[in-house]
Amino acid sequence: MQEMAPNTGLYNPEGEQEMNVIFLGPPGAGKGTVAAVVKEEFSLEHISTGDMLRSEIKAGTALGLSAKEFIDAGKLVPTSVIIDMVAGRLAQAHAGLLFDGFPRTVEQAVALEGIADIDVVVELDVPEDVVVERICSRRVCAECGKVYSTLTYDGETCEGCGAPLVVRADDCEVTARKRFTVYKEETEPLSTYYESRGLLKKVDGTLPMEEVRANVVALFKEIAK
Ligand code: AP5
Repeated sequence: MQEMAPNTGLYNPEGEQEMNVIFLGPPGAGKGTVAAVVKEEFSLEHISTGDMLRSEIKAGTALGLSAKEFIDAGKLVPTSVIIDMVAGRLAQAHAGLLFDGFPRTVEQAVALEGIADIDVVVELDVPEDVVVERICSRRVCAECGKVYSTLTYDGETCEGCGAPLVVRADDCEVTARKRFTVYKEETEPLSTYYESRGLLKKVDGTLPMEEVRANVVALFKEIAK
């Protein structure tokens, strides 16, 4: 595994300390969607291990090829692979960090400690049947990765770049339910882990997107005081 450089005391140009944030929640809870809308407002660098793995798969790298087997089966990619990948990414990071989909196990959370001081862990609370419906309705832009839902958008191309919308390889009902089970067994213990450190804030992720965004923004403003 690569060594990760300490990433503490990050400051924005106004001299205020940047927040380091984790978004926790089951697959399809809306972590990526909320991250996309709050990252600009709070100058956060969005670090999504799922997006990074999909980029590796698209580029046909050895890491991508080995990760694809795990992703398509709804399993977690081995932690040693994830830690090396995140370490490489953090070596280039310079702003406050928004982790989405990492850490996903207590082992990963321990690896993150001492590398980035976490200010808040936002858990998006959404039950299984809602996330399965969301995952089965999700479409993503094949070029820029923008996320859509067939429940709110009936176009076949991206509004931003015009590329076709596609279904993620792991977005079928069987894999979605498997991913939810893996989440309950391997990732949900992080809820207690971060609660015991006084960092956990739960947000109702079943609310309409705009309300979820507003609640997360209010939470960040409270923490940044
Ligand atoms: P990853 O890409 O991280 O997948 P995930 O955590 O399963 O999360 P999703 O991307 O499925 O959902 P999301 O919460 O971002 O929801 P979204 O905003 O898209 O990881 C994929 C795989 O990579 C893993 O299964 C694993 O194999 C591997 N992996 C990644 N990180 C790893 C790690 N650290 N360790 C080991 N393995 C790792 O929203 C979903 C849909 O709902 C969209 O259509 C959206 O439009 C809609 N929506 C969002 N919010 C709302 C709302 N409030 N109301 C209605 N619809 C909404």
